[in-house]
Amino acid sequence: MIFVTGGAGFIGSNFILDYLARSDEHVLNIDKLTYAGNPYNLSSLDGDARYHFVQADIADRATIDALFEQHQPRAILHFAAESHVDRSIHSPGEFIQTNVNGTFTLLEATRVYWSGLPAGAKEEFRFLHVSTDEVYGTLGPGDAPFSETTPYAPNSPYSASKAASDHLVRAYHHTYGLPTLTTNCSNNYGPYHFPEKLIPLVILNALDGKLLPIYGDGQQVRDWLFVSDHCTAIREVLARGIPGETYNVGGWNEKTNLDVVQTLCDILDELQPKAAGSYRDQITFVQDRPGHDRRYAIDARKLERELSWKPGETFETGIAKTVRWYLDNPQWVANVRSGGYLKWLELQYGGKEKS
Ligand code: NAD
Ligand code: DAU
Repeated sequence: MIFVTGGAGFIGSNFILDYLARSDEHVLNIDKLTYAGNPYNLSSLDGDARYHFVQADIADRATIDALFEQHQPRAILHFAAESHVDRSIHSPGEFIQTNVNGTFTLLEATRVYWSGLPAGAKEEFRFLHVSTDEVYGTLGPGDAPFSETTPYAPNSPYSASKAASDHLVRAYHHTYGLPTLTTNCSNNYGPYHFPEKLIPLVILNALDGKLLPIYGDGQQVRDWLFVSDHCTAIREVLARGIPGETYNVGGWNEKTNLDVVQTLCDILDELQPKAAGSYRDQITFVQDRPGHDRRYAIDARKLERELSWKPGETFETGIAKTVRWYLDNPQWVANVRSGGYLKWLELQYGGKEKS
């Protein structure tokens, strides 16, 4: 069995679906089910004997200890986190609690479990920590992309909490010999993406006839990767990565936010044209995110060279698939829309529009 933390979130649920499409190994999904956790993402696994779910907080040591004792996993894939930068600006405390204290608790429980394993199982065991490119800070227009040796310079409470968790993982390898692996990935997009993040927010707002909010001048650059390519990278790193190493994951797809939003509008204009005009007419520039990082870009050559990983999707193919998925899954959208999401939109965008 493998443990997946945060498996009801965007990337975790894609990972579990992709993993069980390729393997018969059992998966235990440990998820607290915060506003971002959506068990509906995994409803296609209902009744599948290989899939197990426990609603639990990674910071709950007693529960995590009991799960280790009961299931004796061969690996932990640690996705669970508070992941939205804007929320970290409004409420940083939850980010420190889950991303730092939660990761620490999980590492401690893992260390105790791993220390008691027989020699062979101990050597084979892996703790794979899923992290972000945001730990490296921001780039200027001509700077080289982030490599595994770029110094850490996090700028938001979210990225600072992820950087802290990366440092703890590193320390557990260095100090205790725990066989850890860390991946630092760029911006993901694809199915099951919660509509607080740019791409799903814009698709759903466009279809609803609402404004498409672009922070600042929209010239910030992100390096986009289709989520299943991230999942493939994680499987490769789990299978063949060297304990103690970190691997940057990215698709060489740098785009400005304005380009991304205009592309989404153009695809929607083709697939679901409005009665009059273009979805581009809904684009609105709003107040910028405080401390907004200008540019992220990932140098993924280590992963390509050492583990022969290559993304399967270009931005053009991945973004078209993504828009199609949102159009084809109105029930998922309706399900996500019920609940705290609407309150969040009010807090984030209420009265902030510039024009
Ligand atoms: P998400 O917010 O969609 O999902 C996070 C999941 O973790 C949710 O299911 C939530 O319920 C769960 N969770 C939160 N706190 C928990 C706790 N204390 N105990 C147990 N479960 C808890 O996030 P995501 O976008 O799927 O990101 C997953 C991981 O990948 C995160 O660690 C994130 O930092 C990292 N990452 C994300 C991206 C991206 O573009 N989304 C890129 C690189 C790295
Ligand atoms: O780089 C990896 C990171 O990517 C992950 O670690 C994070 O978990 C993930 O949320 C994502 O962070 P970003 O802040 O880059 O993603 P977000 O979708 O929030 O924003 C993408 C860009 O779009 C960013 O420059 C801010 C801008 N934006 C976002 C929103 C929600 C807007 O212009 N308008 C918006 O309404």
